[in-house]
Amino acid sequence: MFYFLFLVLLVLLVVLAFTSVQFYNIVFRGFAPFISTKFNAVLTILKDLDLKGDEHVYELGAGKAGFLRAIEQKFGNKKLTGVEYSFLPYFLAKTQIVLSNSKINLIRKDMFKVSLNDADIIYCFLMPKMMAMLEKKFKQECRPGTLIISYHFRIPNMEPERVLKEEKNNIYFYRI
Ligand SMILES: C[S@@+](CC[C@H](N)C(=O)[O-])C[C@H]1O[C@@H](n2cnc3c(N)ncnc32)[C@H](O)[C@@H]1O
Repeated sequence: MFYFLFLVLLVLLVVLAFTSVQFYNIVFRGFAPFISTKFNAVLTILKDLDLKGDEHVYELGAGKAGFLRAIEQKFGNKKLTGVEYSFLPYFLAKTQIVLSNSKINLIRKDMFKVSLNDADIIYCFLMPKMMAMLEKKFKQECRPGTLIISYHFRIPNMEPERVLKEEKNNIYFYRI
């Protein structure tokens, strides 16, 4: 009985710690919460892309790295980088990557501290405030021709090359 109560308390503490960190990052730092892109939206993007397999693809705020896993399965890309700062999604994604023998390189870091100068394609499902902050970073670091795909949220001062629709949600494609 004692061990059971101890375990319940431990789980509650972990959940509380995770929720507090998320709350702080979302409210005070404007970071995006941990919500996955809808599977149908990933399928819509995959149908639109025609990759050779040698492109370096990034998922910024990787969550469970669902986009990168889908790219790996469909096109066999070997240069796949996911960037995720939050422990729980990082841990879940890392476990899946190891168990499935995937080539995805998952980094636990703030995306604003990762250089994007070797990116060919960047996928984001973040927040409006983050897209505004990333705009400057994209323009400073990305090579001409880099494709940026953003689910739901526009990059404020850039014209999308095209916009796809998945149910009521837009998927924006930008070219640097
Ligand atoms: C809306 S989720 C998207 C997850 C995944 N990309 C997807 O589409 O399914 C956004 C993710 O970005 C992560 N995130 C938010 N701010 C970040 C930052 N500054 N650096 C790295 N990851 C961040 C969050 O922890 C969360 O897992």
